[in-house]
Amino acid sequence: MPIRKYEQLLKPLTINSMEVSNRVVMPPITTVLANWDGSVSEAMLAYMGRVSSSGAALFITEATAIHPDGMETPGMLGIYHDRFINGLNRLARTIQANGAKAMIQIYHVGRESRFQLERGRAVAPSALPGIYGIKPRELQLEEIQQLIKGFGEAAVRARKAGFDGVELHGAHGYLLMQFLSGLSNQREDEYGGNFRQRARFILEVIKEVRRRVGQDYPLSLRLSAEEYLPGGYGIQDMEAIVNLFVQAGIDMIHASFGTPASPGGIVCPSIEHPAGFSADLAARIKQRAGVPVIAVGRFTRLEQAQAVLVREEADLIAFGRQHLADPDFFKNALKGRDDLTFECLACNQGCIRHLYLGKGIRCAINPVTGQEMIYPATSSARPRRVLVVGGGPAGLSAAWQAARLGHQVLLLEQELEWGGQIRIGARAPYKEAYGRWLERLAQSAVRAGATIKLGVKADKDFIRQQAPDVIIIATGAKGCRPAIPGIDSPQVVEAAQVMQGEVPVTDHTVIIGGGLVGMETADYLRAQKVNEVRVIEAGSRSPVKKFTGHGYLLHQRLQQAGYSLCLNARVVKILADSVVIEKEGRKELLSPVKQVIIATGSKSSNELTQALDREKTPYYLIGDARQPRGILEAVEEGARAAWNIE
Ligand SMILES: Cc1cc2nc3c(=O)[nH]c(=O)nc-3n(C[C@H](O)[C@H](O)[C@H](O)COP(=O)(O)O)c2cc1C
Repeated sequence: MPIRKYEQLLKPLTINSMEVSNRVVMPPITTVLANWDGSVSEAMLAYMGRVSSSGAALFITEATAIHPDGMETPGMLGIYHDRFINGLNRLARTIQANGAKAMIQIYHVGRESRFQLERGRAVAPSALPGIYGIKPRELQLEEIQQLIKGFGEAAVRARKAGFDGVELHGAHGYLLMQFLSGLSNQREDEYGGNFRQRARFILEVIKEVRRRVGQDYPLSLRLSAEEYLPGGYGIQDMEAIVNLFVQAGIDMIHASFGTPASPGGIVCPSIEHPAGFSADLAARIKQRAGVPVIAVGRFTRLEQAQAVLVREEADLIAFGRQHLADPDFFKNALKGRDDLTFECLACNQGCIRHLYLGKGIRCAINPVTGQEMIYPATSSARPRRVLVVGGGPAGLSAAWQAARLGHQVLLLEQELEWGGQIRIGARAPYKEAYGRWLERLAQSAVRAGATIKLGVKADKDFIRQQAPDVIIIATGAKGCRPAIPGIDSPQVVEAAQVMQGEVPVTDHTVIIGGGLVGMETADYLRAQKVNEVRVIEAGSRSPVKKFTGHGYLLHQRLQQAGYSLCLNARVVKILADSVVIEKEGRKELLSPVKQVIIATGSKSSNELTQALDREKTPYYLIGDARQPRGILEAVEEGARAAWNIE
């Protein structure tokens, strides 16, 4: 039955000489798992081996630099020398061994690399700064010719390495796109001018690559169909020239969008964006290009992809971060078991944030991604009795992984529901997927054999009675209560009470603390149509950064609702109908204030460790109980504790 449901999705497709067996693609995702000389590492092969077992028909491997100065950060791949061919061949074969086709994306970062800018090696069409605010060096004409040649040579190496095709990275504000955009290309020679003229560099690269690899070799071009920047190009500009790329030798267009500078990190869209939100861009490209087009953006389920194919908006669908969250999503869907899939939360914590930090890839909800080398795939030879205390993400992750390894696991949660603070946070607008994730995580633990007991508090006596071999303490964190005069007044409530609907909401509210909890509580109030909300934040900048999609849209929604975010300010007194704040040394009375919500961060609840320090049983302290942080750390520490049980 499910197979028939995905009819279009399971149809083969021919791209030049390459036949793909279905319409699901893994788009390029830079892992920062390469060796620091730009070669393929064992860790990358292990990662790709797992990811490419998904059943998707086509894997386009990550952006691979055609020049040493074209690499965004160390830990990325290079293809600018023959010495890379052997490693790349292993990468291609890893994918092909799973029955899929392997294309490689080749690129040059141009000006969008702090690493290259700081070492004075960044080049661009014009000496104009990009997101890092540092000027790159303008390319000379002879250098442009060398780069065109460099793309051709890289494509030849890709073919020698056994890749089934090459994708040119003409999207996301990197060098090829820097030539295309008037915001980065203000040259007055033949590589500058109007949009059509600025496409010249890409066209010459395509022609050179085609000349070098032959007519039968599949070539894809990834484009940002829309620049999503004020003064940038739009889809109508792209529609006007996309056929030129095809005439120059392109067999497939990969229709992405945005640049690193586009507001809200749109390249890796946040949870606010529904699956396929950009399919109309792909459809408009498809109309003009006359070659297969890949649509991308927030796809997590096959049925969403199938719908786009049925509407003939695209020919193939890319599932990027979903492959990191759960590479089994495809197989589960074909079995009619979508309920077994972990759906990507678009939180960008382990993937894109790690890339910007120059760290190897992770996934906040999949502790295996990027850790395939240390992940114990088989059951423990020495099953132990494991007691997990706390049923938030860290505890559930530990219970799942420990049970999966064959340990006898009992998880105790003192509340009547599992999920810890995330269960409450999931009530904020757009975050329902977090609630589904917690359910999924708990189900995984139970399916693997763990016993979960809710409403049970683990004290020293209970633990003695259970006599576990190992204890995992994942007791989370509790909200901090600042010592402000009037804090115990009846109109003062905790953010968690508001989010759980325990207290009525009201107009004229002050939220103390502008971190994610405070801002999402404000967003919750906005959704309840509460008026006159002020968020008071002690820091000089908002802790919720605008460069993440969620952060950007959160700020935007609150601003549009007329809510104010008051920085550099502290609440110093809470009165019956008002609060006094101190801002830059001056006191100010805010009135009327009917409700005050505390969202001033949290501190670890780890009291149990003191009792256990006197006992012999070994314990691990993980997640927020160790230090309040995000779900990435909670899930990873839970998994690591379980993997380390001896
Ligand atoms: C960590 C990370 C690295 C990425 N690296 C690349 C890359 O090397 N080349 C590229 O064209 N796109 C890259 N992308 C963008 C993805 O290919 C894809 O367009 C994006 O994640 C949106 O698709 P999704 O919602 O299915 O994840 C990257 C995305 C992430 C999250």
